[in-house]
Amino acid sequence: MIAEKVRLPEKRTGGNENRFLIPNSSESGIPPGTCPNIDTYRAVRLCSLKEKADKAETLHKPVLPGEIVALMKPVSRLVLIDATLGLGGHSEALLGSFEDLSIVGIDRDPEAIGLAEERLARFGSRFKAVHSNFSEIESVVREMGFRSVDGIVADLGVSSLQLDSEDRGFSFRFDAPLDMRMNRDSGEKTAAELLEGLSEEEIADVIYKFGEERRSRRIARWIVNRRDEGNPVRTTTELADLVARAVGRKRNDKIHPATRTFQALRIAVNREIEVLEEFVADSIDLLSAGGRLAVITFHSLEDRVIKRSMQKASGRCFCPPKFPKCVCGMTDDVEILTRKPIVPSEEEVSENPRARSAKLRACQKKQAVKPR
Ligand SMILES: C[S@@+](CC[C@H](N)C(=O)[O-])C[C@H]1O[C@@H](n2cnc3c(N)ncnc32)[C@H](O)[C@@H]1O
Repeated sequence: MIAEKVRLPEKRTGGNENRFLIPNSSESGIPPGTCPNIDTYRAVRLCSLKEKADKAETLHKPVLPGEIVALMKPVSRLVLIDATLGLGGHSEALLGSFEDLSIVGIDRDPEAIGLAEERLARFGSRFKAVHSNFSEIESVVREMGFRSVDGIVADLGVSSLQLDSEDRGFSFRFDAPLDMRMNRDSGEKTAAELLEGLSEEEIADVIYKFGEERRSRRIARWIVNRRDEGNPVRTTTELADLVARAVGRKRNDKIHPATRTFQALRIAVNREIEVLEEFVADSIDLLSAGGRLAVITFHSLEDRVIKRSMQKASGRCFCPPKFPKCVCGMTDDVEILTRKPIVPSEEEVSENPRARSAKLRACQKKQAVKPR
């Protein structure tokens, strides 16, 4: 194994730490010995990814790294979960800043896991990667043998690695099958399959809700007309061209007309919004007293869910005023650390344009949480 077990301050018995790991050669059917000295599927895969891992810093620049490090400083002697490990940029900044910190990184994308393990191997037993969805954060933490953790960070959405992959269908910059799954081993429907299965109204709703695209109905009609002609949209280029023809392109448009449709489909394929509220609630439950949760979002829909979920955990009731009793699930477990979200400086945005829409919100678990 490249990354060994992290130190366990509150070890419980019976955890199966390998449950979420990528299979070894006997499970994967890939012949051992392809890579010198290391007899695992992951090692074989890492050999081919080694070059990418060496370039990880340039493949994906972490957003607001200094702010994440500053927020986590008070919990930096302990154990932290990076719920969206990606290429390990935030984990690297944290492990490099705090020598007593250990991190468990979670990502649903096996390629990201491989690259981050390679990049962070120098931190040895202080880092461990787990292939999972952060909707499973509670079982990941329990399986690792922890009762609680001291910090959790999440940097939502896709990584530049995913967006810039020529064959994964996230971007119309490359002609590829319309896939868009962050985890291609998951058995989830691809974007093309989603467009084949949904009704016109459902497609329009997805594009409107997740892409905030005003012309969603027109785009959905064009997608379904093409499907009805026996020629469903199957590739990124086909979809980008169709949207451009459906809505036209104005000369002063700053973005490609299909940008919002692509974002919407990606969010729908990966069910990105569905799990967020529960993720915040589960994360807060897992924090030790004084522990901190920090989440970076990239669009308003995500930010609304994070803001509301943190407010709900800080004692704000969202029930209609007439209700005699609170039923919204409000608790009084955290203090909000960011009344207004932290946003990147102009300097960061000019160096890393992907950061321009980022918002960072954080909260801290209270010392004494009332029993429920
Ligand atoms: C913006 S990138 C994170 C980049 C990382 N912070 C870095 O500095 O390299 C988001 C990552 O989160 C992963 N991801 C998104 N949703 C996830 C989920 N529900 N569970 C686990 N990983 C997820 C994606 O696969 C992607 O690798």
